[in-house]
Amino acid sequence: MPKLVIEGGFPLSGTVRVGGAKNAVLPLLAASLLAESGMSQIDDVPNLLDVCNMAETISSIGARVERRGTSVRVQANRIHSVEPPQDLVRRMRASFVVAGPLLARFKEAKISLPGGCNIGNRPVDLHIKGFEAMGAVAQHEGGYVHLKAPAGGLRGARIYLDVPSVGATQNLMMAASLAKGHTVIENAAKEPENVDLANYLNAMGARVRGAGTDTIRIDGVTRLHGANHTVIPDRIEAGTFLVAGALLGSGVYVENAVSDHLMSLIAKLEEAGARVEDEVVGIRVWPAERGRLSAIDVKTHFYPSYPTDMQAQIMAALSVALGTSTVTETVFENRFMHVAELARMGANIHTQGRMAIVEGVDRLSGAAVTATDLRAGAALVLAGLVAEGETEVLGLHHIDRGYDNLVSKFQQLGAHIRRLETPTEDTGAESA
Ligand code: EPZ
Repeated sequence: MPKLVIEGGFPLSGTVRVGGAKNAVLPLLAASLLAESGMSQIDDVPNLLDVCNMAETISSIGARVERRGTSVRVQANRIHSVEPPQDLVRRMRASFVVAGPLLARFKEAKISLPGGCNIGNRPVDLHIKGFEAMGAVAQHEGGYVHLKAPAGGLRGARIYLDVPSVGATQNLMMAASLAKGHTVIENAAKEPENVDLANYLNAMGARVRGAGTDTIRIDGVTRLHGANHTVIPDRIEAGTFLVAGALLGSGVYVENAVSDHLMSLIAKLEEAGARVEDEVVGIRVWPAERGRLSAIDVKTHFYPSYPTDMQAQIMAALSVALGTSTVTETVFENRFMHVAELARMGANIHTQGRMAIVEGVDRLSGAAVTATDLRAGAALVLAGLVAEGETEVLGLHHIDRGYDNLVSKFQQLGAHIRRLETPTEDTGAESA
C-alpha cells in the first residue's frame, strides 16, 4: 500500500510550476469525439489517473489516442460504438460527459450512470433534462441511461439549469454544438474550465458564445473537425501550493498560475494575513507577518465564489490559525470527511451540518491519516507539512487522480516528503 511520509515544520521556498487543469482536460478529451475529420492535439496535459481513465474510455469506442510527453493527440474518425464499457465509465463520474458528444454526433449514447462518490450523490438529472429539451429520449436501463436523438438529430433549445452544474454545462454545450438551430443555456456554470472547453469547440468549428457568463449561446453546425489546443493551468493545483506557501513559505512562487482564476482564494489568503503578489506569469505568496494566519470565515459556492475543491486545503491551514474560523460547504452535502483525519493530527474542528467550526491550535502533530477524496488528500499533505513530527498519508490513489508529481513539486520547495510504494521500503520502519 503506497504512502507518503512527511517530516513537518520545514519552511518552503522557491518556484513550482503548475500543469494543465485536470478538470479542463477531461471535457476536452470528450469533446474530441465530436470531430468527424482531422486530428486534435491537446497540449500541457498532466499525467493523472483521471486523464488515463478518460483516454481509455474514448479509446474503447474507437478514438485513436496517442500521448507524446505532455501532448495528447486524438483522432475520432473511426468511432465504432456509442456505449463505452461500464467498468470504465463507473471509475470516474466525469466520464459522463462523453454522452453529449456521442448523442450529438451519432444520435445515440448508452452511458452507465456514475456511481455515487465520497462527496455526495451527484446526480446527472440536469444533463438528461437538457438532452431531453433538445429532443432526446432518455431511458434508464439497469444502471445505464440510453439516450436517443430524433431522426433529424438534436434540436436547439432554451435550457435553464436549476444548478449551475459544471458537468451539465459541458455536456450540453457539446451536444448543442451539433444540434440544429440555436441553444441558450441559462444559469450555466462559469468555471474557467468551461471557457477553455468553449474555446476548443470553437477551434473545432463550433459557434459557442458567452462561456464564462451565466448565459451561453450556441449556434449548431453540421460537422466539427480536429483542432489544436493548450489546456489552461490547473487553478486547484495552483491554489494548493498557494495555501502551502501561506502556511510555511518564505516567498513561494507558483509559476503558470492565473490569478484571474483564483481571485476568491487570493482574497481569503490576504484576509487571513498572507501576502500575495500577481507576477503576471505566476503568483508569489508569503505567510502572515507574525508567522500564523488569522482566523477567517470561508463559504464555498459556484465559480467565481470560493471553490469547493479548495475547501479541505484552507481548512487544514485554518486548523493552525490564530482564532476560530468557520468553513461552510454549500456545493456538496458530504465534503467534510477530512475533518476526522485532521482531528487525528490534533485539529480542533467540529461540524454542524454544512458548517465546520475550526478552532485554531498552536500546532498539529504528525499521525497516520488516510485520504478520503482527491482534495482531502491534498489537505492532509498540507497538514503534514505544518505538523510537528512525522505524518503518513495513505489513500494515494485519490491524490494520484488529480495531482501530477505532487511529491517532487513539494520537494522542489524544500518539503521533507517522500513516497514509499510499499511499507517494507521504509528503512526506518519495523518490519510488519
Ligand atoms: C465538477 O464536478 C468538478 N469535476 C468537481 O471537481 C467540482 O467539485 C465540481 O465541478 C463543482 O465545482 C470535474 O470537473 C471533473 P457539478 P461536477 O455538476 O461537474 C449538483 C475535483 O476535486 N448536480 O457542478 O460533477 C451536484 O449534486 C472534483 O477535481 C445536480 O443536482 O459538479 C452538486 O451538488 C470534485 N444535478 C452540484 O450540482 C446534476 O445533473 C455541483 O455539481 C448535476 C449536478
